[in-house]
Amino acid sequence: MICRVLDSLTTNDIVCFVLYGHPGVFVYPSHEVIRRAKLAGHDAQMLPGISAEDCLFADIGIDPARLGCCTFEATDFLLYGRVFDPRSYLILWQVGLIGDITFKLDGYDTPNVEPLVQRLSRSYPLDHDLIVYEASQYAVCAPRVDHVSLQNLASEKLTAISTLVVPPAVRSEVDMEMADLLGIKDFITRKIS
Ligand SMILES: C[S@@+](CC[C@H](N)C(=O)[O-])C[C@H]1O[C@@H](n2cnc3c(N)ncnc32)[C@H](O)[C@@H]1O
Repeated sequence: MICRVLDSLTTNDIVCFVLYGHPGVFVYPSHEVIRRAKLAGHDAQMLPGISAEDCLFADIGIDPARLGCCTFEATDFLLYGRVFDPRSYLILWQVGLIGDITFKLDGYDTPNVEPLVQRLSRSYPLDHDLIVYEASQYAVCAPRVDHVSLQNLASEKLTAISTLVVPPAVRSEVDMEMADLLGIKDFITRKIS
């Protein structure tokens, strides 16, 4: 993909590389093409698009400002033991291809969901309600918003376009010392009483 775009620059003055969603979110070739094009002396710019997560916020009705939201790529999440906060939303991308380093057009097997269930069960109860989300690819179709418990995640159908939403499991508590330091202790006290 990268070579194809860079090759086009040898015969065209202007080249536009179009990708779905946000071209810079969970996409390697776009960033790399821009880096190499600039290195070769070309002007290169990325324009933002609407990512799957943007659609998710709209379809599921989550505002990340309220409880916070942590986003990871699913394999990266497991491999690096990413630290997250179960008081906030956890969003895992590419959950349908955990540990799969190949590219397949005809769909992926999902044998590596069990390690994810094990990892999540350290912070969430097994009956915790998760959401498998797939934004609609067609204007006339509804998105997929399937609720599944953590213990049943491995038997849920996950695809190359599935994104997993793990809602908070623990209530957030205000740090009153910090509220005091910020000069908003009275406001916060009124708000939570
Ligand atoms: C290579 S990334 C590309 C993301 C894309 N650049 C974007 O901004 O949405 C592929 C991953 O994005 C997410 N994704 C792509 N299409 C989706 C959809 N229709 N609904 C939900 N998540 C989607 C899934 O987590 C999928 O495994």
